[in-house]
Amino acid sequence: MHALTLSTLAAALFASATFAHTDCKSVDASVIKHTGISTGVEEKHDGIRLYIAKPDNSSIRAKENPTSAIVYLTDVFGIELVENRLLADSFARAGYLTIAPDLFNNEHASGDINVPGFNTSAFLARHGPDVTDPIIASTINHLRTAYGIKKIGLTGYCFGGRYSFRFLGAGKGGDAGYAAHPSLLENGEIEAIKGPAAIGAAETDGMMSPARRSEIEALLAKGSAPWQVNLYSGTNHGFGVRANISDPEQLAGKEEAFLQAVRWFDRHLSRPDFILRPAVDEDRDACYTIHRVAMYDVVKATFGWDEEDQIARWNSEWDPSEFQIVVVDGRMIGSIDVVDRTNDILLSGIELEPAFQGRGIGSALIGKLQAKAAQRGVPLVLGVFEANPRARALYERLGFKEFHREGIKALMRWEPDVVKKG
Ligand SMILES: *[C@@H]1O[C@H](CO)[C@@H](O)[C@H](O)[C@H]1NC(C)=O
Ligand SMILES: *[C@@H]1O[C@H](CO)[C@@H](O)[C@H](O)[C@H]1NC(C)=O
Ligand SMILES: *[C@@H]1O[C@H](CO)[C@@H](O)[C@H](O)[C@H]1NC(C)=O
Repeated sequence: MHALTLSTLAAALFASATFAHTDCKSVDASVIKHTGISTGVEEKHDGIRLYIAKPDNSSIRAKENPTSAIVYLTDVFGIELVENRLLADSFARAGYLTIAPDLFNNEHASGDINVPGFNTSAFLARHGPDVTDPIIASTINHLRTAYGIKKIGLTGYCFGGRYSFRFLGAGKGGDAGYAAHPSLLENGEIEAIKGPAAIGAAETDGMMSPARRSEIEALLAKGSAPWQVNLYSGTNHGFGVRANISDPEQLAGKEEAFLQAVRWFDRHLSRPDFILRPAVDEDRDACYTIHRVAMYDVVKATFGWDEEDQIARWNSEWDPSEFQIVVVDGRMIGSIDVVDRTNDILLSGIELEPAFQGRGIGSALIGKLQAKAAQRGVPLVLGVFEANPRARALYERLGFKEFHREGIKALMRWEPDVVKKG
């Protein structure tokens, strides 16, 4: 009886869980414009000037990923510099709504900050994180509220590159970051990132020497977020925006760096296509491996991680009839454990490899279960540990409310509009 309802649920999930393929037509350098007239518009919001570049309404890529957008963080030349506007337009042609806020309150730099005669310390003192962070936070908020954007990519250049990292910190609102030749990036800012970060580095860069680049790579490697550092030969600091496009090597570097950013956002701002399949006995060890990476921190903070005990529990309690395997590109990347009970549906666990967390898979899986629960007219319940605020925040966003507490574990419930009594 139990097995029967479960396999019915599994079949329903299986049938409905093959989502439209993102089928992103891949982008090439033809979307990039280096010279000419910019095509975006300027608007003022919250006292901040915004340069806004929108995808053409026929953009297939934009239609396939309509809830992702890019915040473009300029170098010290600001949104006045036509190369910045043109590059923002290029992101729009690549399918992303792109907003570049004026980071400098109308007083962008007239020369590069490492050029003699420019009072760098005075400029930077006037435009530190205390005044720059709120401008970016307001822009992100505007994208979410006025445009219904759910996933934010930050692309930053020189001065702006540092802020791509800052906004990948916990609760800062960025979902993926890219920085070309970032200036003034601090170790603590790298250590604090919670999302995927990529860097396009210049061969010759006074703001990021080879030694500094190695340090940055080591810090990225120590963290848990996916990262990438690409180095472009023949390029100098600033090339992502202001390469000498008469020089073929610099031109190629600028174009490749742009495509690097677009591909990074394609990968991390859209939900990967996945399918579900029923688990079989042979999946047990692979599921444990994912359980270990997905839950290690939470379990360690809650009970302490005892490997032998974890394995023993897993082997005695793991029941393939409750599990579905989440598969991306033919590879297992997680599992979902669901028990269909008489009076409710218990979501006993969702465990995904860290690289696939925060990318919409969990929400999509829960959305399907909510639809199933609504169809049955029963609540969907789950438990979440205090040490897992990120999961809790997701459940709250999806409408779950705490109804009971067992010490360090909260039980949460989502109820459909119509609950069948009985
Ligand atoms: C796309 O935009 C053009 C011009 O802005 C407009 O004429 C056209 O009707 C739009 N098409 C759609 C499908 O919205
Ligand atoms: C640069 O600005 C700082 C602070 O505003 C000032 O103390 C300093 O004298 C200036 N330096 C030059 C070379 O003008
Ligand atoms: C740009 O590159 C071209 C071709 O290599 C070179 O002739 C020119 O001097 C460069 N311009 C600047 C400003 O460096």
